[in-house]
Amino acid sequence: MKYLWTLTGALSMAVGLAASPVPWPPSPTGTLWCLLAKIGPPIVADSPSTPIHGLQLSVDTATPTLVGKGFKGSYDFIGGGIGAWRGCHDYWLNIGTSPYSYKPLTWDFDNKVTTTWTASVGTLVHAGSTADYLATNTFLACNQSGSWVLYLQTGTDAPSGVTCYITQLKVNTL
Ligand SMILES: *[C@@H]1O[C@H](CO)[C@@H](O)[C@H](O)[C@H]1NC(C)=O
Repeated sequence: MKYLWTLTGALSMAVGLAASPVPWPPSPTGTLWCLLAKIGPPIVADSPSTPIHGLQLSVDTATPTLVGKGFKGSYDFIGGGIGAWRGCHDYWLNIGTSPYSYKPLTWDFDNKVTTTWTASVGTLVHAGSTADYLATNTFLACNQSGSWVLYLQTGTDAPSGVTCYITQLKVNTL
């Protein structure tokens, strides 16, 4: 019974990984104004002498990653949130919970949970303090299956078995 459960779990996990997800990001809808593309400066990894230096924040997957050419649209820095504007909606950058010092990040469509960010054009991205951790501008980028997955780093833990680099995120000027 336990064996079957394990097998089913492994299978559904494999299917989950292999299944092509719903289109991401969802297409913009609404008025012509909303369909217009707004462009803005990228958010880039700032950690000289690491292989990820200069890589850009991507909004192409629900899990933020660093890529060569990242989000070309405009970021919103309002109400303590970081939003990637798309068609009169935003993908909001949210900080998840974890028992470890590195915290998972997600892009959530129209759902701003984290309101402790500070960022603006030309500055580093800061996460404000919470009951769990102190304010920080440190991030971890970990090579997970060839993608540089980004975490907020609030201490010194790092995921095991993968290569990670410490970095900061800077909002470029155009
Ligand atoms: C990232 O990890 C993959 C294995 O998952 C490896 O093939 C690749 O060389 C690594 N890339 C870098 C830049 O470390």
